[in-house]
Amino acid sequence: MRMRRKKHGPERIAACSEYLICPDKDMPGVLHDPSEWFPDRRPVFLEIGCGKGGFASSYAASHPECNLIAVERVPDVACLALEKAKAGRGERQSDNLRILIANAQDLTRLFCEHSFAGIFLNFSDPWPKKGYAKRRLTHRLFLEQYRRLLSDHGLLYFKTDNEPLFDFSLEEFAAAGLSVEQISRDLHEDTSIKDNIMTEYESNFVSQGKPIFYAKVRFEKDHAGTTD
Ligand SMILES: C[S@@+](CC[C@H](N)C(=O)[O-])C[C@H]1O[C@@H](n2cnc3c(N)ncnc32)[C@H](O)[C@@H]1O
Repeated sequence: MRMRRKKHGPERIAACSEYLICPDKDMPGVLHDPSEWFPDRRPVFLEIGCGKGGFASSYAASHPECNLIAVERVPDVACLALEKAKAGRGERQSDNLRILIANAQDLTRLFCEHSFAGIFLNFSDPWPKKGYAKRRLTHRLFLEQYRRLLSDHGLLYFKTDNEPLFDFSLEEFAAAGLSVEQISRDLHEDTSIKDNIMTEYESNFVSQGKPIFYAKVRFEKDHAGTTD
């Protein structure tokens, strides 16, 4: 997500510091149990590439039984997610939402193995050029990192408007030996998939009449696929 540089970005981020987690600053080089940042121990979910944080705020409000860490690598964008998290505090029964400014590729160096119950990838950047395939968040190298982060039987929830990225992702899931439990090539017309929470990008695509592609993928503990 491109964004014009924000005036007073650092100050605005600092004003929401109760919702920001800074693992490197708190204890550099240490792997963290994500529950450290929440007052109550609950299953912790990750959203990677949260953008402005609409999904994260709605998910946290509608799932008080879970904790959610929403990750965004662009500080000016994460600032908007933080402000949304702060503004939505009154809508949440639980203090269960935190924002992390980080790149997805660093998550296994920040968090303990098998410490997340699920991961959401919502409208990840498609990186259409072949030479950039390794940057796609469903590339098998990222899937191996998710395998380390997710608990046994952990789930990956993936949504995109981009059919080539979706087809690429299905190939990567198969190569990694993962089972796709639910799949839809038109999520909003599929009555078998309940309780979808829309993201900012999704609302935009749906208003243009575009279909949304969806897959729910299960990670089993000792099932390693090919990684070459
Ligand atoms: C296309 S936007 C989608 C935003 C939001 N999920 C939505 O659906 O409205 C993708 C977001 O992922 C972030 N992103 C891309 N690659 C990332 C990475 N490697 N680590 C963390 N965030 C990333 C981008 O900065 C951008 O904000």
